[in-house]
Amino acid sequence: MSRTIIVSNRLPTKAHRTDNGLEFTPSEGGLATGLGSIYRADGNVWIGWPGLVVEDPDEQQHVIGQLHEDSMSPVFLTDAEIRDFYEGFSNETLWPTFHYFSQYAVFDQHQWEVYVAVNEKFCEAVLREAGPDDTIWVHDYQLLLLPQMLRKARPDSSIGFFLHIPFPSQEIIRAMPWREQLLEGMLGADLIGFHTYGYMRHFLSAVSQLLGYPSQNGMVEAGQRSVLVDAFPMGIDYEKYAELAASEPALKSEQTYREALGDVRVILSIDRLDYTKGIAQRLLAYELMLQQYPEWREQVTLFMLVVPSRDQVEQYKELKEEIDELVGRITSTYRTLSWNPVQYFYRSFPIEDLAGLYRLAEVALVTPMRDGMNLVAKEFIACKGDQPGVLILSERAGAARELSDAIIINPSDMHQVAEAMHEALIMPEQEQRHRMANMQALVKQYNVHHWVQLFMDRLAYSKIKQQTLATT
Ligand code: G6P
Repeated sequence: MSRTIIVSNRLPTKAHRTDNGLEFTPSEGGLATGLGSIYRADGNVWIGWPGLVVEDPDEQQHVIGQLHEDSMSPVFLTDAEIRDFYEGFSNETLWPTFHYFSQYAVFDQHQWEVYVAVNEKFCEAVLREAGPDDTIWVHDYQLLLLPQMLRKARPDSSIGFFLHIPFPSQEIIRAMPWREQLLEGMLGADLIGFHTYGYMRHFLSAVSQLLGYPSQNGMVEAGQRSVLVDAFPMGIDYEKYAELAASEPALKSEQTYREALGDVRVILSIDRLDYTKGIAQRLLAYELMLQQYPEWREQVTLFMLVVPSRDQVEQYKELKEEIDELVGRITSTYRTLSWNPVQYFYRSFPIEDLAGLYRLAEVALVTPMRDGMNLVAKEFIACKGDQPGVLILSERAGAARELSDAIIINPSDMHQVAEAMHEALIMPEQEQRHRMANMQALVKQYNVHHWVQLFMDRLAYSKIKQQTLATT
């Protein structure tokens, strides 16, 4: 039987060391959440890093055993690999470059070499697991070289690649050393998927300008092989979120927050700590809103949840300090004895609490500077059920290509974001319901199951197409 082998840097489950030994909890981030509900089907396996350095062979066996029961197979990374591959090349070179933060990008030859070596390590792990008929689906920027490595070992395998972050203009890619190797690495796949047509266009132009490979209708002629490139906007598990939001624990959590916050209107912001998410800019826009519309003071609270992430990387440490300072300034300037303008939490919350918060919030503020897709926007919509609510969404999130019933803003324009908050707070309920229903219909139909199906069908099609081309 042919299975699907999913490969990503991070597994959807992470191991922690506690006083009682190792514990396993769900991972943060869109990818883990998005694919979380599908990989267990049909004997499929998910290969990736369990989020912790485990060197002791007995402990490794324990982790392997635990994860195996839940259809996962771990790749163990050493401290040095985490520093140079994960924090280094992945998150200090590729992440800033692909999100148009080139000023943060580090170009370090040693980190590049470790990136190549870790991609090879993943390749060996996949080859141990995958049979000749299995379909291999590689995910995201940490593993850009893996499709080509797999292709060399398995010329006939069906290999898909999906990039979960933006693909920037070829002008940006051009600035990177190793640009040709990275593009060739991706082209080892039969099908390369992006969230939007914009990212896909950038990729096709990079491949044409930097490698001289022509393309027609998304089919790239890469030497002896043809590679299909297409856009697949990722969805969420709509039913799971809708059911969760209607469940007893979520309703209870909503009520607890409501009682604690009192009679204020809630604007919600949820992100991993990341400079791409525009968290500091969002705080400045909120501060401006309180200045320009003093009538909202004591009436509104910004409930801001920041999930710790990549805290060993310098830019993330600095951002954390900047956010702490801004929240301190806004709070000390505007708070009263009975009202807090910002409720700021730096930690992760259980999913039931998130669902409770999505229900509680009248407005969701999703204003990234750049974001491949942004699933928080879609989760808010799914959790709203028959409640009204307004989504304020950055035009630079992939999700903005689909969710045109949100209030779409330019996240760098503080005045526009402040206005959008005011507009959201005074929007008539009927209009809110109308826009929300449109967005719900879309998020419900184009859910994560649809996304997987579409990608898999296209992958099968690209294989057939290649075989036809080879025989003609
Ligand atoms: C984004 C990336 C994922 C990554 C996630 C969490 O969603 O596209 O590949 O797993 O962030 O980041 P982390 O560095 O904690 O894995």
